Amino acid sequence: MNKKILVTGGLGYIGSHTVVELQNNGFEVVVIDDLSNSEEFVHEKIEQITNKKLEYHLIDLKDQEAVDEFFSHQDIAGVIHFAAHKAVGESVEKPLMYYRNNIVGLLNLLEAARDQNIENFIFSSSCTVYGQADELPIDENAPLKKAESPYGKTKQMGEEILEDFSETYKKNVIALRYFNPIGAHPTALIGELPKGIPNNLIPFVTQTAAGIREQLSVFGDDYPTRDGTAIRDYIYVMDLAKAHVMALQRLLDGKNKKNYEIFNLGTGTGSTVLEVIQAFEKANKVKLKYKITERRAGDITAAYADKTKAEKELGWKPETNLEESLRTAWEWQKTLK
Ligand code: UFG
Repeated sequence: MNKKILVTGGLGYIGSHTVVELQNNGFEVVVIDDLSNSEEFVHEKIEQITNKKLEYHLIDLKDQEAVDEFFSHQDIAGVIHFAAHKAVGESVEKPLMYYRNNIVGLLNLLEAARDQNIENFIFSSSCTVYGQADELPIDENAPLKKAESPYGKTKQMGEEILEDFSETYKKNVIALRYFNPIGAHPTALIGELPKGIPNNLIPFVTQTAAGIREQLSVFGDDYPTRDGTAIRDYIYVMDLAKAHVMALQRLLDGKNKKNYEIFNLGTGTGSTVLEVIQAFEKANKVKLKYKITERRAGDITAAYADKTKAEKELGWKPETNLEESLRTAWEWQKTLK
């Protein structure tokens, strides 16, 4: 029997790329999504890329009845849980909305998983749980700092809830802590679809290059870094997608060493904002208009991953460099005009 993999938020940015990778690796996938930050057409685009049918249900995870009803008709071997709100600034303005969505949604999902004896669970976490780490690169043992935003707190709480869930019910859980996901599928059929003015650097860069935004603001050039701008670890979204499939396979094969495991997913290399701009211009042969402005509240100076554990335990290696990732981001942006 070929049991299914449930992907929540499977029409969203990282979810959709992971669904492609799962289908291309022979998994039968079922997606649930509430379309709160995604578009229904992504469903067709995924099918177009993989040339396979994709089962999809419009379900809001906050709706416990709908979640229970869904599970009662399914035979699921594992869950990859992406569905969550993720805008840092919005979470400061609407904390309760973030807690309700990210925490209640997770609880409804876990209760159903417990009742249906679903054994394997992958959770979308973030390097935001580390805050400004004292040591770089950041490994999985780095202490968690008090999160700067309700969004960050929902990721920390989500991890704690999952740790207890795995311990008490003897379930297998892997939390994946992403650094900064960027880029789009090489076909340019799916990619990041920010609603309104983008918060994140890369969609703002591509929209500026496309003339949708007048110019990019570089938030601060007085950080203690090599050129004064902040450092992040930009990881290609298809490399991330592959890591999800490898983490899932580890659980399905019973190769996990503990019930609850954590992996950092990043390239291991930090880039400054100015280096990202240069790489984008070089990769795409376009000029980017930008100005230096004040620092953005809540931003940290530098974060990049120690990826040793993911390499050793998952056998995962990021394969796509910054320029190539930025090329796919631009190819995708050009399809949106
Ligand atoms: N930046 C700019 N101009 C912009 C947007 C961003 O200069 O218009 C800079 C930021 O100051 C930062 C870097 O580009 O130095 C990256 O910013 P992003 O907003 O793209 O990413 P963050 O690192 O701030 O946020 C990401 C995720 C969050 C997560 C956080 C954890 O998007 O979900 O990492 O650090 F919480």
